[in-house]
Amino acid sequence: MTAPNDQANPTRADDSPIAASYPELVGKVAVVTGAGRGMGAVFATELARRGINVVAGDLTGAPEVAEQVNRQITDGGRVVGHRADVTDPAGHDGLLRAGLDEFGRVDFWVNNAGIFPQAEFTEIPPEQLTSTYQVNVNGVVYGAQTAARHMREHGGGAIVNMASVAGVRVRATRAAYNSSKAAVRHLTSCMAVELGSDNIRVNAIAPGFVDTEMTRWVREDPAALDRALSTVPLHRVGAPIEVFGALYFLLSDSARYITGAVIPVDGGSQHI
Ligand SMILES: NC(=O)c1ccc[n+]([C@@H]2O[C@H](COP(=O)([O-])OP(=O)(O)OC[C@H]3O[C@@H](n4cnc5c(N)ncnc54)[C@H](O)[C@@H]3O)[C@@H](O)[C@H]2O)c1
Repeated sequence: MTAPNDQANPTRADDSPIAASYPELVGKVAVVTGAGRGMGAVFATELARRGINVVAGDLTGAPEVAEQVNRQITDGGRVVGHRADVTDPAGHDGLLRAGLDEFGRVDFWVNNAGIFPQAEFTEIPPEQLTSTYQVNVNGVVYGAQTAARHMREHGGGAIVNMASVAGVRVRATRAAYNSSKAAVRHLTSCMAVELGSDNIRVNAIAPGFVDTEMTRWVREDPAALDRALSTVPLHRVGAPIEVFGALYFLLSDSARYITGAVIPVDGGSQHI
């Protein structure tokens, strides 16, 4: 336990384990994009720890994450690492195929890959806008399309998209990112409405300020950290495992009547 009882550094993320357990998920199979590091890598690890098999996709790092998890966790699910670019529909087809070849089924799809660029609004280069939408928006659409085409032939499933507090609370110099995450929220509603009759639940998680490589520079700059924490009522950084808690719930049977929801995991940031 590091926080909130960490007196020396009370703003630090609490990365202590969570106790949640949904035994009905043992033996199921999840595809997680952007699993070569950060939250995606933690999702793959924690799912495997709880008996769920995982196809970890990323541009880089996924095979290494898989190897590490499989070495660490010998009595849980297994992880296969697969190179896949979420901006290419064929990349998603490859992830689905890997799940079917390795495990014989795919039940869950987590559209987690994302990029977080920065530029003043008037300076946003066209290529930044294009790449941000390609990864954060098109990548989510393509992943959900591949997942839904498969799931509707196999009795249903659950899709979880990674949105962000940035989709509702604007921060300066992040227009491309903010708007891409607003699109993810809205797409989650669109998919939930359209895929419900196929027994496919589609939800999103909207993290706030979470302790990963993506936000390392903020934690390393005391002024930026102060500014960031001034918009967090719990006044500390979130840990990837705290986001995993929401993901695991959304995949479980306990969430079987929940679709189209966006669960904030943000220490209250959406309210400031
Ligand atoms: N860290 C935060 O504070 C925070 C807050 C809100 C939302 N999010 C969202 O959560 C998700 C995970 O964030 P993170 O903090 O773990 O980020 P991260 O940068 O640590 O990891 C993102 C991963 O996505 C991968 N990726 C990028 N482009 C890709 C592509 N074209 N194809 C496949 N993979 C690609 C990267 O290689 C990387 O491994 C992202 O969607 C991010 O926008 C993060």
